Parts: sequence; structure tokens; C-alpha cells
Amino acid sequence: MRVLVLNGPNLNLLGSREPEIYGSESLDDIEAVLRDRAEQLGIELDFLQSNHEGALIDAIHEHGDWDGVILNPGALTHTSIALADALSATGLPAIEVPLSNVHAREPFRRHSYISPVVWGQIAGFGFRGYRAALHLLHQRWTERQAEGGSESGA
Ligand code: DQA
Repeated sequence: MRVLVLNGPNLNLLGSREPEIYGSESLDDIEAVLRDRAEQLGIELDFLQSNHEGALIDAIHEHGDWDGVILNPGALTHTSIALADALSATGLPAIEVPLSNVHAREPFRRHSYISPVVWGQIAGFGFRGYRAALHLLHQRWTERQAEGGSESGA
């Protein structure tokens, strides 16, 4: 199984950026936690962060032989129809993982263009959300394999 993990603008600042909201873990810490868990589950990870919307879209278009996507688009969550369209076009199961509980913050953070095209959202659990998403995608993939079916649709 192979999973793409995408991180959007300003997430390269994790650790020093408003730690009371986003936690004290850096993006490298999050990647290390995920790689560790991925190895235990036999999952190959592609992990990417960009501050540029187009770079994130290009990465999705590359559409390696991924079986799922975990993404935290940062503020692009609330603005990017283009990113949502790119994700939707893959037909892959994806999980949106905002670190903070966006529903308990400013009203503009409650709306996500991404949510309608993903399997689900895990919000407010910090880096643990990424780890939970990896488990959920793995579980789904394992179930589909057992059914002998192929993956399609979010
Ligand atoms: C975020 C929430 C967004 O509203 C914000 O713009 C971010 C981080 C989160 O992980 O909680 O950059 O995606």
C-alpha cells in the first residue's frame, strides 16, 4: 500500500507557529511519527509540504500508484476549489487532517472546500490525526483487498 501525505502553506513552520493551537511538534516530527507507523503497517509514504497551491495540485496530478491521500491544506482548505477538484479527479480515498479544531475557531475556518471530496475529516487532534488517518486508510485498503475489489471514489 502507498499513501500520499500533503501539507499546505505555513505548515513548514509547525513547532514554532502558534504551538498553543497547532502543537509543539515540527513537520519533521510528524513525518517521523508517520514513517514509523507506516513501516509497522507495511505502507510506503510520499510526504510533501508546499507553500504553493500549484505545487500541491501538480503533486496530486502525478497520481503515483497511491491507494490513499492524507492532507492538511492549511488555509487552502478554506479557499481552494482547484485543490478540491484535483483531489476529486483522482477518485482516491482521502482524509483531511486539520491539526486544530477548525470548528471551534473563527467562522471562516469552518468552511472547507476539501471536505465534500474526501472520505472524512479528523480535526483537532494535532499530529495524532495524521496517525489515525493512516490507520483508517490502511483498514479500508485491507478490507477492500479481502473483498477482492479495487478502490475508487472517495
Ligand atoms: C490548519 C487550519 C487552517 O485554518 C489554517 O489556515 C492552517 C492550519 C490546521 O491544521 O489546523 O494553516 O489547516
